[in-house]
Amino acid sequence: MAQRKIVKMGNPVLAARAAPVDSENMDRVVELIPDMVEAMREAGGVGLAAPQVGESLRVIIFEVPASRASSDETDGPLELQALINPEIEPLDERMELGWEGCLSIPDLKGEVPRHARIRYTGLDGTGNRVNREASGFHARVIQHEVDHLDGILYLERMTDMRRIGYVDEMAAAAIEAKLSGEAKLAGRTEDE
Ligand code: NI
Repeated sequence: MAQRKIVKMGNPVLAARAAPVDSENMDRVVELIPDMVEAMREAGGVGLAAPQVGESLRVIIFEVPASRASSDETDGPLELQALINPEIEPLDERMELGWEGCLSIPDLKGEVPRHARIRYTGLDGTGNRVNREASGFHARVIQHEVDHLDGILYLERMTDMRRIGYVDEMAAAAIEAKLSGEAKLAGRTEDE
């Protein structure tokens, strides 16, 4: 397994539209997925897109940890898995705000509107067709990662630029707010 470095905002690969996986480049993907898993695990994330390790191909990996799942049947826990050539379709107009981080934008969290319910399709790491509904965190992580394949970072999706900050400062502020009986500023999030 090759050690892959996660690239950060400013690297042109993160602004490019990634190429579809086809029979020509499938061999590269077979090697790429374990490398992505290794890089994501090392960084402590819950999702990663191939451009984040410098490969401009339409491949993402993601998981829904039990701590982020909800009782909604389309937002249950999911093991770490790969999705090749993913496509997303929103199931209705409803948007939800939630906090996101990104391994390519370290130390920051921002509040991002995402479609509350989506259907997504693609191929899993063994070439089987995936066709699922997702909501909540599950829908959010998929939308975040697929955006990476289109050269879009979560900052570009934000609608209120006051709702961004450094994780450590926001955590400190949240503790202070809790101590003084005020509402918590930010929920716990992992980077994607
Ligand atoms: Ni990201």
